[in-house]
Amino acid sequence: MLEVGCGDEGGVVAALVAAGYDATGVDPRAPAGDRFRQVDFREVDGEYDAVVAGRVIHHLVPLDDAVEKLASLAPVLIVNEFAWDLIDATLQEWYDAERASRPGATGPPTVEQWRRRHPGLHPHDILLTALRAHYDERTLEWLPYFQHWLGDVESPDRIGYQWAGTRTSTTRSSAPSR
Ligand SMILES: C[S@@+](CC[C@H](N)C(=O)[O-])C[C@H]1O[C@@H](n2cnc3c(N)ncnc32)[C@H](O)[C@@H]1O
Repeated sequence: MLEVGCGDEGGVVAALVAAGYDATGVDPRAPAGDRFRQVDFREVDGEYDAVVAGRVIHHLVPLDDAVEKLASLAPVLIVNEFAWDLIDATLQEWYDAERASRPGATGPPTVEQWRRRHPGLHPHDILLTALRAHYDERTLEWLPYFQHWLGDVESPDRIGYQWAGTRTSTTRSSAPSR
């Protein structure tokens, strides 16, 4: 399996290996080690069984080319994302108040500050449309997200989502043909 955008902590690579998968993580910020490559995923070739991408695709530009490249790497894509564009005034107020009461939390001090620091991210409908252009959707499950920013908390949000798809038959693999 290939984890794209595993981050500087290695993402889910160690968990995949512990579960018995042969897994590699790629990210310019990937940690050192045999299981990691410090590269942009667009430099990766070959055919994997599945690609995993956690909170990465909303950053990728141009989006459609990036998704086409992901689809060339494996017939299955598993995505963990969050729909930042669904943070409405009520959720924003809830988050800001919770964050203020948790000085040790790792999330941004306020949603507004996070928005200012992350211009140009893809909203969830654009992202899902790009995924559905290259994959048949198998799963879309909406989940709480703010615990990633706040730690152990029961959050009212449902802006996190897990998505899985299988490559459409018209999308070509990047593996050499035999
Ligand atoms: C928000 S972090 C998510 C890290 C990790 N997957 C997680 O969920 O904690 C997004 C990561 O995607 C990586 N990234 C962005 N564009 C990338 C690309 N073209 N190829 C590989 N990694 C990329 C960034 O370097 C960053 O580490």
